[in-house]
Order: sequence, then C-alpha cells, then structure tokens
Amino acid sequence: MSTSNTPTETEMLAANAAGVTRAASILTEGGLIAMPTETVYGLAADARNDHAVARIFEAKGRPRFNPLIVHVADAATAQRYVAWSDLADRLAQAFWPGALTLVLPLRPGSRLSPLVTADLPTLAVRVPAHPLAHELLTQFDGPLAAPSANPSGKISPTTAAHVAAGLAGRIEGILDGGACPVGVESTIVGLFEEPVLLRPGGLPQEALEHCLGAPLKVHQSGDPLIAPGQMTSHYAPGASVRLNASDVGPEELLLGFGTVDCALNLSAAGDLTEAAANLFHHLHALDAKVPKGIAVSPIPEIGLGRAINDRLRRAAAPR
Ligand code: TXA
Ligand code: MG
Repeated sequence: MSTSNTPTETEMLAANAAGVTRAASILTEGGLIAMPTETVYGLAADARNDHAVARIFEAKGRPRFNPLIVHVADAATAQRYVAWSDLADRLAQAFWPGALTLVLPLRPGSRLSPLVTADLPTLAVRVPAHPLAHELLTQFDGPLAAPSANPSGKISPTTAAHVAAGLAGRIEGILDGGACPVGVESTIVGLFEEPVLLRPGGLPQEALEHCLGAPLKVHQSGDPLIAPGQMTSHYAPGASVRLNASDVGPEELLLGFGTVDCALNLSAAGDLTEAAANLFHHLHALDAKVPKGIAVSPIPEIGLGRAINDRLRRAAAPR
C-alpha cells in the first residue's frame, strides 16, 4: 500500500459484486476508496487504522483539526463507538439509513484512530442509505471514516468523474455508483445537553423538528466552533460567486432557479429536491467553462433550500 505523497494508480471499480469485493479488500489493506453515498461521494478508509486515516488528510489537503464522520452499516454498530441515548435512538429510528449525521460522546475503548475525532471527546456517525455504501460496509465489516471525496475547500463530488478530477493518483480506487441522488451532504445534529443543528444538509430541518416535536437550536456562525469544518470559505469554484442575482453581468454565467433565462438551471420547476441533486454538478460544470463569475438566482430558505443556500454562501465567501 502506498505511503505519503507517492503517486498511486487509481482503479475505477464497477457497481457490481466484483467491484465491491475489490473495494473492501483495498480498505482492509489500509487503502483509500471513494464510495458513493446518497448525499455525496465519500473518501473512505478503515477508521481504526492510523496510517490509512492519515492518508485521507494528505489526499484531501485537509487540516488535521477537522474531524471525520464514521460510517457504519447500522445503528447497532454505531452504538459500539458512541454513548447512545433515547434521543439518538428516536432520530436513528426515524432517519437511518439516510442523510443524518449524529454527533455523540465518543465511547471509551472505541479503538478508533484518534485522528478521526481530531482528539475531540465526541464522534460523528452516520448510516448511509446508498445500496453500494451499505454493501461495502457489510463486506468490509468495520467502521469507515469518510469525508467528502474532494480536495479540501473545493466543490463536493456527486459523480465518480468529479472524484477522479480532484483526487486521481492520490487514492487506490473509486467505486462508481453514478450520480448521488440527494446531492448535498448530510445534516449534522449534535446531541449535547440539547440537540443542536450543526450543519444543514440533505435531511430538512423541518423533518427533524417534526420528529423531535420542538424547534431545533441552530448553531450560529459566531458560536464557538463545535463543528470545526464549518469554516466560512468552502465549496469554492475557481470563479467568484454572486448570490441572489436578478440580472447577469457580461462576463458572468447565471446558475438559475425557476423560470429564468440562464446557463444552467438548478430546477426550472422550482423544485428544491431537484435543485439539491443538481447543485454541485452544475457548479462543477459552470466552473469548467472558466467564467469570471457565477451569478446565482435566489433560492428560498426552506427545506433543502437551507442546505443549498449554506453551500452557496460558503462558495461566495471571501477566500
Ligand atoms: O453526507 C456527508 O456527510 C458526507 C458523506 C461522505 O457521508 N460526508 C461529509 O464529510 O460531508 P465532511 O468531512 O466533508 O464533513 C463533515 C463535517 C465537517 O464539517 C466536520 O468538522 C464535522 O462534520 N464533524 C466531524 N466530526 C465532528 C464532531 N465530532 N463534532 C462536530 N463536528 C464534527
Ligand atoms: Mg466536505
């Protein structure tokens, strides 16, 4: 298995039993595999293997203080790694497998690499719903640490081609599951003294509040950094990004929403689920045309619109 910074040949693995078996064996040997999930592609490594986890940070150029989400096959497995609670159980029953990450106290003796949690006393866990991710977790039969499979700070990947464009030569394999159906990362909820929404994502806040029967406290940007990855500039295309655009400048391309004349439309029908699925794909596609700027139509701040606007605000933030 390769060590730091040596070029690695990246195998394209098909979405079949042979592809999953090969991916599982590469992971067992301490290699890195990009795996499809329903949200975005993740860059997976054995969460118990220090060397493998260190290589995730190297391949992405990710700062070591930014902890990783551990992916497991089911809620029973999650309970080996975190201190479980009634509230965790309620949310897991309602939304796992799916686009929800729970942050809970790390269980002593979990034997995960300390790099995974960046030495925090808590751990982020998720049970992905994508059938290939589930199959891979079942065959590998262990916890997989997996951030989004993009170079740190760049646009997240929703196809195998996006992963290859950012990480080919730095990882052992890409399991090609086609386009990710949700298209934005998981919603992250911290279960501390009270539940806190740490990152809006593919599971709408409204669905969580309905399940909890109460409004969810939302982490504000001025609060202490409890989700260390929530740095303001993120998801950055090469072009500058201008939000809430009602017009388009001569050197700009318009990323539209609803009935508007534009270069690419997130959803001509104004459907937020469709817009989330298209978001990163369209940002990659517009960025490839190397425009001076990308202007973006207003997106309503409800349901998946919250996650879309969060990613767009970070893409537009000063770098
Ligand atoms: O949908 C997703 O969540 C995707 C797929 C691959 O599962 N993963 C993903 O990972 O988006 P990443 O690393 O790009 O984003 C994870 C976020 C980061 O902002 C990180 O700081 C935060 O989760 N995080 C991880 N562990 C944490 C912890 N113990 N406490 C608070 N935040 C944590
Ligand atoms: Mg990410």
